Order: sequence, then C-alpha cells, then structure tokens
Amino acid sequence: MSRIQLLSPRLANQIAAGEVVERPASVVKELLENSLDAGATQIEIDVEQGGMKLIRLRDNGGGIEEQDLPLALSRHATSKILVLEDLEAVNSLGFRGEALASISSVSRLTLTSRRSDAPSAWQVQTEGRDMEPVVSPAAHPQGTCVEVRDLFFNTPARRKFMRTEQTEFKHLEEVVKRLALSRSDVSFVLRHNGRVIHQLRPARTEQDHERRISSVCGPAFIDQALSLDMCAEASGLRLWGWMGLPTFSRSQTDLQYFFVNGRIIRDKLVAHAVRQAYQDVLFHGRHPAFVLYLELDPRLVDVNVHPTKHEVRFREGRLVHDFIFRTLHRVIADVRPEAAVSSAAASLDGGQAADPAPGIPGINAQQFEQGRMPLAQAPLGGSAAAGSSSGSGFQSDYSPAATSLGAVRDQINGYGALHVSANGAGGLGGPGANSAQDAALAAAQAQGEVAPPLGYALAHLHGIYILAQNEQGLVLVDMHAAHERIVYERMKQAYETEVVRSQPLLVPLSMAVSQNEADCAEEQAAVFQRLGFELSRMGEESLVVRQVPVSLARGNIEQLIRDVLSDMLTYGQSQRIENHINELLGTMACHGAVRANRQLSVPEMNGLLRDMEITERSGQCNHGRPTWTQLSLNELDKLFMRGR
Ligand SMILES: Nc1ncnc2c1ncn2[C@@H]1O[C@H](COP(=O)(O)OP(=O)(O)OP(=O)(O)O)[C@@H](O)[C@H]1O
Ligand SMILES: [Mg+2]
Repeated sequence: MSRIQLLSPRLANQIAAGEVVERPASVVKELLENSLDAGATQIEIDVEQGGMKLIRLRDNGGGIEEQDLPLALSRHATSKILVLEDLEAVNSLGFRGEALASISSVSRLTLTSRRSDAPSAWQVQTEGRDMEPVVSPAAHPQGTCVEVRDLFFNTPARRKFMRTEQTEFKHLEEVVKRLALSRSDVSFVLRHNGRVIHQLRPARTEQDHERRISSVCGPAFIDQALSLDMCAEASGLRLWGWMGLPTFSRSQTDLQYFFVNGRIIRDKLVAHAVRQAYQDVLFHGRHPAFVLYLELDPRLVDVNVHPTKHEVRFREGRLVHDFIFRTLHRVIADVRPEAAVSSAAASLDGGQAADPAPGIPGINAQQFEQGRMPLAQAPLGGSAAAGSSSGSGFQSDYSPAATSLGAVRDQINGYGALHVSANGAGGLGGPGANSAQDAALAAAQAQGEVAPPLGYALAHLHGIYILAQNEQGLVLVDMHAAHERIVYERMKQAYETEVVRSQPLLVPLSMAVSQNEADCAEEQAAVFQRLGFELSRMGEESLVVRQVPVSLARGNIEQLIRDVLSDMLTYGQSQRIENHINELLGTMACHGAVRANRQLSVPEMNGLLRDMEITERSGQCNHGRPTWTQLSLNELDKLFMRGR
C-alpha cells in the first residue's frame, strides 16, 4: 500500500457526487430544490440532449451576494443550517451544502446571480483540481441562473451509464413533475431542445391546483380521484390531496406521489400504510394512484437519512402509519352512491351543503365522485331507500344492524334459495312482494322525494346486469359483483363484532424466534388473543402457539405468525391475520352471492340497489372490479347524436 494522502478537493467532490449525481435528472432535482429554497416563484429549465449536453435553470429567487458566490460552489457551505438544532428541524429542501460542489466537480458549471439590492450580477466557475473559484461580473436580472454543460465529461465511467437522450429526458421530466406537484404556487417552464414540453402556471385557487394535477398526472386521474383533507389535531398531522378511486388502478406504481412537508419521498412505512388502505378493493397486482401531502412538525421527521433525501424517518412512525392508513381507509370505505339523496336532503334543508361524513372532520362528502356521479354520505337507517319497507326477500334481512354471523349465514342461505326459485315474483319476498315494493316506490315518488342515487330497477339483462333509471340517466349494475361486495362487507362486520372462535391445536406449535420477536409477541399478546390465537413465550427466543382461530386452522400458522411479527416490528402493527380471515370471508361471499343467469324480480333488484347505497366500498367487488357504472342522458344523447 502507498502512503496516506489528502484527496484533492475536486476528487473528494467527485466521490461525493457519486452518491447524489446519478444522471441529468439528479442535477435538475438539486437545482430546482435550490431555487425553491431561494423563494423563487418562476422557474425556467432549458435542456439539450436529455440534459447530457446542457441543463440551464433560471429562477427569480433571492439570489446570492457577490462575496458568497465562491462559497456556493464549495463543499460544506450552506446558508440553510448553522447548528445541530437546525438540522433537527429542517424546513428547507437542501441543508448539506454539497449539491453545487458535487455537480461542478463532474461538469462545466457556471453560477450567475444577482440579489435585488445589488447593482449588478456576478458569475462564478471553478478551476483545476483544487476547484479554485473564479468570480467575474455578468449581466443578469434578479435571481439565479445555473448552467451545467457536458455532465460527466471528466468521469467517463459515469458517462457510460447514461441512457439514450429520450430516456434521460423522461427521468428529468419526472423530476420536474414531482417538484411542480409539490409547489403549485410556483410557475414552471420546461424546454427540451428548444421545444416547450411543460408550461405550468401558478395555482391560486383550488381549481387551479386541480388543473395542475390534471396537467401533470393526466385528466383521467383527477376525474376519478377523491379529494381529502384531514387533520389529527392532537398529533398535529395533516394529510391532504387526491387519491385515485380503486377502479382507477394502474399496472405500475408510476402515479404515486407522496410529499412530506413539501419533499417527495418513497418511504416503506408510507407505502405500507397506503397499500393497507387499498387492500380489499384493488384488483390483484394493480397499484393505486395518489397525490398526497403530509404535513407535520419538522422536528418529528428526520430528513437526513438518505443521500438523495428520498427517504425520511418519522420519530413517531407508528402514529404516522396509523394516521395515514385510517384516513385513506375511511375515504375509500365511504365511496358510496348517495349524492342524489343528500342533495335532495340539502335542498329540503334550504340549500345547505351536504354534511361532512360523520366522524371524519374535514372530508367533504361532496368531493367524492365515482365516474361523473357525485356521491355523498349515506343517510343511515334506510330512509334513503324509498322502498325499504317492502317485504322483498333481498330487503328483509338487510338493515345495517343485521350483522350477526348467524344472520349473515341465513342471508347466504336465502340467496341460495334465490338460485333455485323459478322466478323472481315468487322469490324470497314471497307472493305480493312485487306489488308491495311498487306501491312503496310509487308512494315515495308521489311525496315528491327524489329518486335514490342508483335509482329504480327497470330490467334484468341476460340475468347478469341490472338496468336502473336514476335522475342522471341509466345505471348499469353487475349483479354478482355488487352482491358479492355486500355479502362480504356484512360478513366482515359480523366477524368483527363477534368473539372469534378458536380451537386448540392437537400438538402445540413451538417456534424459534429472535429475542426482538419474542418481546414483540409478548407485548402484543392481547392483539393475538383478540384474533383468536393463544400464544405465549417459552424462553428468551421461543414461542408456543396453543390455540388458533377456527377459520385459519388449516393454514400455515407458523409462517403467518412470523410475518405478523415482522410487520409489527417494522410498522408497529399488522393486518395480516385480518387479511387472511378477510380472504376466506371473501371466498365465502363469492360463493354466497347470487350467480349470474338468475333472473331477479324488480323488488329484488331494488333491494340490491338500496343495499349498495348503504354498503361500504360498494363501488368495487371483492376483486376490485367495478360493480356499477352510470350512463348519463347526455352520453346517451351523444350516442344517438341527439342535440338538446
Ligand atoms: N438558486 C439559488 N438561489 C439562491 N441561492 C442559491 C441558489 N442555489 C444555491 N444557492 C446558495 O448556495 C448554497 C449551496 O447550494 P447547495 O445546493 O450546494 O447546498 P444546499 O442547498 O445548502 O444543501 P444541499 O447540498 O443539501 O442541496 C445554498 O445554501 C444557497 O445559499
Ligand atoms: Mg441544494
């Protein structure tokens, strides 16, 4: 080995650049963050050859003083933090004082800047292995311009990893999109080889904000997204933004934006909480789309854990996980087709807006949408269902209170009877159900009540689809899918409210685990017990399972418990046992739900529609497929080229 020597500043910076500057997109990220930190409201980015030849970023921010210019390009020099306490409550995007030094060590970088109070602008570049700064006068309006040419010209190994111009530009564009989503109050222009690719005006109103989301994420997203804004007063957490409806799922995770105090992050804990929230409503292998903003006291989040700052560490990880999960879960559960009813109620109320969903302050039910149909909170208790007093078989067991497992079982048996009964009129409702329902509907209509959101059944198409008429036009319902969800939700509710039945294992199962896991199992014993497990610690590193829930007795208990413990250790909680149980209930529900090709009577169909209106997550079946859709009169008119 040779003797120890100090690295030259350029080489030290090039090594540091290895972590932060991976490709042109990383340069743009750092430069954009600097402009935002400098309070810029207008940012223009010019790129040539995917950023490999040139990246020029111009802002109208605060600018840099002449004397500070040399420091801006040196390592460990920043205006953003001074002492350790600042690092513990960072509210700027940068704080390391490394980005410009790193970038200028692997490219030809020129920094030009002018403060508002300065008579003229100045420019700085670095030279040689010592990165000696050279300052000269320049012409520039207030703000800063950074020009980065020939990225990696002096680090050929890095240069080899660059992809085609188009690929590099795609990455770069994605970075611009993310930052544009994080700050809709700032205007952005992105040009590639002289062509304008994005021109985003600053958003001042909620509408403008949605327009920006739409131009970045595509109009389909915002059309099929629920907006939310929720605060947890006690912990000072706020979560707001837009989450795609489960039916707007994607094959990739490419439309997922999560910001923590304005910084985009990809975090395991957050990803887990979101996945859990969509669990049960997404088609297998599909991914949700969302643009979400979490705001919290900067002291509660450590941003100094990852070189590119893509990850963060929450000081109260469990609390944050729980808050995100519960908020999103609630929003999805409340996607129900009820706006028509509540807008009717509102008009009776003298035109006041619909109530926010009970128990979830901040969520305005009017913001919910499925397709083009506005949705709102269910008037629980069935007053919405004009025909709910009828004796229809579909209806009879269907008050929201009927949630005991026994009742659910009876229901399923009832649906079984539907399969065999020869025709709808003689179905569960018994003779006369049809006329009773019709009379009830007629009475409701006569009293001037507005039709329920999913309207009234007209016919049953090929034994598969229910056609119904509502105020907007035609509603189409996949009978089996809709019914499956209803049965499933009922079964889950029943399962939750009853004591879980468990059975002893013939041979108790002993498991070798780590000490951490054993501690965790001990701490969480009550959770396991509530779910039907009897589990105790046998030694430092072993557990024994004596009793398990009946429904899981035939599964791989050991694997399940291991996975659960690992979740609990990482995320503070685990939904795995519930998920397994839900999966089983889902299968049962699928078998219990009415099959296609079974002709339903009108009252039965109306019963199903009313049930959909009061059932959580009724917009998708258990497999995430949509259960209903709306064809408005306008759309029908278009089909027939009929002008109104
Ligand atoms: N566009 C800009 N407008 C005003 N000042 C800037 C701009 N870009 C950089 N600066 C100044 O130069 C300093 C160094 O920037 P640099 O990006 O290297 O470090 P940083 O932003 O402080 O930390 P990090 O390395 O985490 O990005 C900043 O602290 C800031 O004072
Ligand atoms: Mg920076």
